[in-house]
Amino acid sequence: MEDKKQTNKAGNFVGVKPLANAKRSLLDLAKMKKNGVPVAWVTAYDLPFACAAEKAGTDMILVGDSGGMVQLGYSTTNPVTMDEMVILAKSAKRGAPNTFIIGDMPQGSYEPSDRDAVISALRFIKEAGSDAVKCEGGHRIIPKVKAMVDAGVLVMGHLGLTPQSTGSFGGYRVQGKSVASFEKTMEDALELQEAGVFAILLEAMPSEPAGQIARALKIPVYGIGAGGEVDGQLVIMHDLMGFYQAFRPWFAKCYVPEVVGEFKEYISRIKDVRKNGREERRDGLLVLAEMTIKAYIEHVRDRSFPGAEYSYPIKPEELAVLKNSKYWK
Ligand code: KIV
Repeated sequence: MEDKKQTNKAGNFVGVKPLANAKRSLLDLAKMKKNGVPVAWVTAYDLPFACAAEKAGTDMILVGDSGGMVQLGYSTTNPVTMDEMVILAKSAKRGAPNTFIIGDMPQGSYEPSDRDAVISALRFIKEAGSDAVKCEGGHRIIPKVKAMVDAGVLVMGHLGLTPQSTGSFGGYRVQGKSVASFEKTMEDALELQEAGVFAILLEAMPSEPAGQIARALKIPVYGIGAGGEVDGQLVIMHDLMGFYQAFRPWFAKCYVPEVVGEFKEYISRIKDVRKNGREERRDGLLVLAEMTIKAYIEHVRDRSFPGAEYSYPIKPEELAVLKNSKYWK
């Protein structure tokens, strides 16, 4: 499972050494949780970024409905359709054929009925070649989750801030800070685990309540903006690269400045690559993207990311109240 930086014969950066069994299995994810190895994963929606993510050694890829915003230019994730998601997921799959890919169920693709949920989920699996799907919500979507699991689909839950229903949360607000919000998230998480999800993603919560949920569950609990006590970190590719101007969440770090020095040094050694073979025409943004993702992965693994700087704070008095919850261990 060790990542090793690699250069090829020509001295070109070619990402990290492929793993013996590069594609993560559920067993790998379970072992990583058990052994305290944080999973590092990214979103990707197209061939070049998925390719860079795979080369950099990402553990998984989420083809998020955030692609509706950062890739397709909608102002929220709500307009993105299942047809659009399948195109994004197919493109990502072509770029990262050996990576565990999760297709994100867009709003409207699973809520109407169990049958809709199963049909939409199977589109990701059969048409786009995804390995699993993710959908937002807890108690209210349990029948849909069970229907998809019964149909043989691997399902990841998504709790905390769930962008498809930001209206019901009063906008993009940090979750899990009050006892009611923490207990609801914990109960939803336990119910999703019972329904058969293989993992849960928590979005926008302070570390301490998110960590409580991660430790209470047997399955892996990952975070995006949920601090460093969970079992792994997800980041939106366009935040990591500084590619999306309209919005940058507080917890997202652009990693390009971390690697520009390395990239400059690397690129200064590159000669004219036009006659080189496929693996050796490595003189541009793809390499920079790989280096950027790899730096993020290394920081997740050694737990220097997210740290306090990229985690939502919670006031000591709020934490003291949370500790009275019946779920707090
Ligand atoms: O669509 C997405 O990328 C997501 C993340 C924000 C968690 O669901």
